[in-house]
Amino acid sequence: MCGIVGYIGQASSSREHSALDVLMEGLRRLEYRGYDSAGIAVAADGELYHRKKAGKLANLAEELEGSPVPAAQVGIGHTRWATHGGPTDQNAHPHLADEGRLAMIHNGIIENYAQIKEEMLAAGHTFLSETDTEVAATLLGHIYRHEGEQDLTKSMQLASQRFEGAFTLLAIHVDSPDRVVASRRNSPLVVGVGEGENFLGSDVSGFIDFTRKAIELDQDQVVTITADSIEITDFQGNSAQGKEFTVDWDASAAEKGGYDTFMEKEIHDQPQAVADTLLGRTDATGRLILDELRIEPEELLNVRKIIVLACGTSAYAGMVAKYAIEHWCRIPVEVELSHEFRYRDPIIDPTTMIVSISQSGETMDTLMAVRYAKEQGARTVSICNTNGSTIPRESDAVLYTHAGPEIAVASTKAFLAQITAAYLLGLYLAQLNKQLFSEQIKDILADLADIPAKIQDILDRGDQIKQLARSMKDADSVLFLGRNVGYPVAMEGALKLKELAYIHAEGFAAGELKHGPIALIDDGQPVFVVMPSPMDRHSLHAKVVSNIQEVRARGARTMVVAERGDEAVSAYAEDVFEVPETQPMLMPLLTTVPLQIYALELSTAKGYDVDQPRNLAKSVTVE
Ligand code: F6R
Repeated sequence: MCGIVGYIGQASSSREHSALDVLMEGLRRLEYRGYDSAGIAVAADGELYHRKKAGKLANLAEELEGSPVPAAQVGIGHTRWATHGGPTDQNAHPHLADEGRLAMIHNGIIENYAQIKEEMLAAGHTFLSETDTEVAATLLGHIYRHEGEQDLTKSMQLASQRFEGAFTLLAIHVDSPDRVVASRRNSPLVVGVGEGENFLGSDVSGFIDFTRKAIELDQDQVVTITADSIEITDFQGNSAQGKEFTVDWDASAAEKGGYDTFMEKEIHDQPQAVADTLLGRTDATGRLILDELRIEPEELLNVRKIIVLACGTSAYAGMVAKYAIEHWCRIPVEVELSHEFRYRDPIIDPTTMIVSISQSGETMDTLMAVRYAKEQGARTVSICNTNGSTIPRESDAVLYTHAGPEIAVASTKAFLAQITAAYLLGLYLAQLNKQLFSEQIKDILADLADIPAKIQDILDRGDQIKQLARSMKDADSVLFLGRNVGYPVAMEGALKLKELAYIHAEGFAAGELKHGPIALIDDGQPVFVVMPSPMDRHSLHAKVVSNIQEVRARGARTMVVAERGDEAVSAYAEDVFEVPETQPMLMPLLTTVPLQIYALELSTAKGYDVDQPRNLAKSVTVE
């Protein structure tokens, strides 16, 4: 997601860094986060100078060459990954306020920005961009003038109390060119401690070329850095402490958040990916608001059939969507691989809604299938992770997942974000067609909100699954079984293992076992079982316990992912990995994670390139 850098030094500093050099270097280091526009602001000689450009950093560098800014010792820099508002010069950060005397950059989503914007419009302010950041900057400027005693730190504390959602905000003001003030809630921010200079970054890569001493901030804190001081408070202004640490990674590890591979980082990004995808999609009363869908509710109420189009991992997210949407909305859902769909004669009419799912938004098979469906008169909605990519551009509407850039070729965090977005779509349709009561929707949303912490709990216990994976380094085939929403999880577990560890793997619906696949079981055959919740309303749990017994009786080595406290399975499995409880429909967001860790660790144990598996491309732009 967005990259953030802040810098304050002093002209006499022995290091003599110019703010611009530090900011540009930091932004270069943060490029790995993905971005589609970039900008900087510096304060010098009682003036604020800012430059911002859509596109790559080279565009910003070119702009700065043509229109240089004076040497400065204070500044902020930003790379933006567009979420709300397209990737344009205008929407790029920084945004200015207080008559061009204050500049702000932001990572996250201010959920109540519409309400604040109305207030600011009523107070006579005007806006140039479509961003929530400009609203935040305007409120900060307004408070600075009227309530904050023209003190940037105090104004930031007061403004932060007003914001809902997730944010890291950095601001500078020409009146106080000796400081950068920042605030954070649910969004990352670290302080880099220098000598006669200090830094801020969305992660340590933002300043790793200049210092390795850093301070981690807590939730809901404001930090003010000057060249020789760092002051941390809570939003009320009470003094607070950060946690000091030394960065011992090299620059390339820092890009990966200290993990060895992008995939490991991305697996660990998943709590944030799910939380960010949920963020900003309910109003104050807890009702789902999916404004971005831009299809009239009457039209959505006319939908008689949904066809999900996707490939690979995204198609497995589509299978989860089918279970959820049919159950919650009572609308029939078909899931079809994009490349199969358009080479038959699918029955589509204006009451058919196509939901395409794609991380990249560029998969040619899915793009062609969406085009074909449009030509046949269907409404098209895209669930996509890449803002401005082709599939959402060509669809009638888009629901973005906010997993952030996924760099490892095999998909992990995008998958969980796609499932989360599919749940939101299902709940939204159920809210419209009243197949669920608003209280039921609120309950499901509350359980969804608990999922990030539960994923974190699984990640914290990842060693157990890693050990298991290492012990199976020489396996040449692994089978995966699941039922209901556990079935696509089993397929995804098998796909990850094929892709990463080049081990033959198959995912089956557990009920299908006796119809053929059981013939594969012989002595020592590893079988991974994704257990349904004991609360499953179809009593599938007992049926899958029987499946475990059947394969064990034929010599299989069984490994089970089951809900915490599911005692019925332990008697029949060699290894049980527990996931926290949640409602049965939401289980894929948890049960997938151990399977990802398993595949990653097996691949690592075999010495393979986890991030770039052989023969695979991140974005398949050919048919
Ligand atoms: C598997 C994987 C692929 C993609 C598929 C679709 O780990 O990454 O199976 O899911 O190629 O890609 P997108 O989602 O970009 O359309």
